[in-house]
Amino acid sequence: MPIGLNLSEDKRHVASANQGSRVKQVGTMGKHVGVWVVALVLGACSGESAEMAANAKPGQSTYNEACISCHNPGISGAPRLGDTDAWQARIAKGRQALVNSTINGLNSMPAKGMCWRCSNEDLGNAVDYILEQSGVSSGR
Ligand code: HEC
Repeated sequence: MPIGLNLSEDKRHVASANQGSRVKQVGTMGKHVGVWVVALVLGACSGESAEMAANAKPGQSTYNEACISCHNPGISGAPRLGDTDAWQARIAKGRQALVNSTINGLNSMPAKGMCWRCSNEDLGNAVDYILEQSGVSSGR
């Protein structure tokens, strides 16, 4: 039946067009955010993660939980982990000023990095972790 054939061909065309636009949408979500979401999910599912967290540097688990989503991809101008130049410029005002910004927030940086259960010490450790990973001395 020629009409039936034409219809199903049209449907196939629509289906593949939809698939195309869905792939495009995922693509525009931001490659970096997607990669880190995957990394976080994988980390959460890994049986070793609890043990790894226990052995990790003090600020690392706080960083991975509360700071990584902005400071790895550099969301809204967040200085990126490992960007020595960016963190060298920040540490010029002193470690305590950076810790205070973390506790109180700064422009697009939300107070406490939105980690409401984090103590000031946790946040200070996370700042030290960022500086260390970026090759910057915290002066401590
Ligand atoms: C929602 C995104 C976001 C999260 C989550 C986040 N930050 Fe930030 N952070 C930023 C942005 C944006 C800036 C740059 C602010 C500016 O200079 O205007 C920033 C700047 C900073 C600075 C530099 C402050 C200064 O005085 O120059 C430090 C230190 C910092 N963040 C630490 C952290 C720590 C530690 C965490 C986790 C506990 C964290 N951030 C979580 C977005 C974020």
